[in-house]
Amino acid sequence: MEKLLSHLAHLEISSPDVEASAAFYEQKFGMRIVDRIDGTIYLRCWGDYYRYSLVVTDGDEPGLVRMAWRTASEAALETAAKNIAAAGTEGHWTDGGNGYGKAYEFVGPYGHPMRLVYELEKFEAEPGFASIYPDRPEKRSRHACAPRFLDHVTVAASDVRGFAKWYNEVLGFRIMAFTDLDEAPITVFSVLTTNEKSHDLGVVLDTSDRAGRVNHIAFWTDTHEELLITADVLMENGTPMEYGPSIHGIGEQNFLYFREASGLRVELNSGGYRNYVPDWEPTTWKPSDGSANFYRNGAMPDSMTESFPAADGLTATEEGASEDMKADLLNPYARQGRG
Ligand SMILES: [Fe+2]
Repeated sequence: MEKLLSHLAHLEISSPDVEASAAFYEQKFGMRIVDRIDGTIYLRCWGDYYRYSLVVTDGDEPGLVRMAWRTASEAALETAAKNIAAAGTEGHWTDGGNGYGKAYEFVGPYGHPMRLVYELEKFEAEPGFASIYPDRPEKRSRHACAPRFLDHVTVAASDVRGFAKWYNEVLGFRIMAFTDLDEAPITVFSVLTTNEKSHDLGVVLDTSDRAGRVNHIAFWTDTHEELLITADVLMENGTPMEYGPSIHGIGEQNFLYFREASGLRVELNSGGYRNYVPDWEPTTWKPSDGSANFYRNGAMPDSMTESFPAADGLTATEEGASEDMKADLLNPYARQGRG
């Protein structure tokens, strides 16, 4: 397949308190507010090449409103739209808006709203923000833990392999890895990529009947030291570490997880390998191989099984499934009403 998508361009999330969420990303996490339009707040990391990478919009619950992907070309956008229609998913063309040109918008087969776009506004630093280095969209932030740019999003879906297959076949994502439970061939996690990173799209198994949920949004920093400083600065300013810092087995990124003001989970990554192999065959990990925790010694908190918005039912994590979820998956008839 010709290359259709280049990378993740922005994430739009909902928050019951837009100002509180934006204040978190600005003041604690070191992003910068670039626009406020009709109650929606647009933020950027200092190294984002486009004007913004995070959009916070009003909503009753924290959740994913949209993921926007930049296509490889104008022609690739047309091809992607045709592929989506041919796969039986209905989409529509829009004008984009706030720096985005013509876009194709659709809801993926597992309920995730997507925008594909080629034409979009490149970031031009305002006076006082220009870097002395030509490759940098703006100067490095003075904030102690400012992420460099948006990295990936991990969503929840009722069928991990089905989700991965659709995004591979229709939009050309490479499927990099799966995690199956140690106890049974049940797939609870997968990572996909549009480029050389181990993933820019992750998916965890969701047993709830609420489609389109998100598990976390993730940003990038250059060095492991900056990641550790971020953990330190956030701890000192009242934001606990939910999980990490540690290293994922899959992707080999350093990671840490924390929650923003709405409760939505945010991850910070550094490191990790690059993989350029065009015909890569997805690997299958077990949690006991260290899929989520490279050192195989981490006790992942149960809170990591929460996805957003909240729903009855369980989601898996990069480390597999909780004991409750395993019991549910391995013996579904044990639970009343499911036999
Ligand atoms: Fe992640």
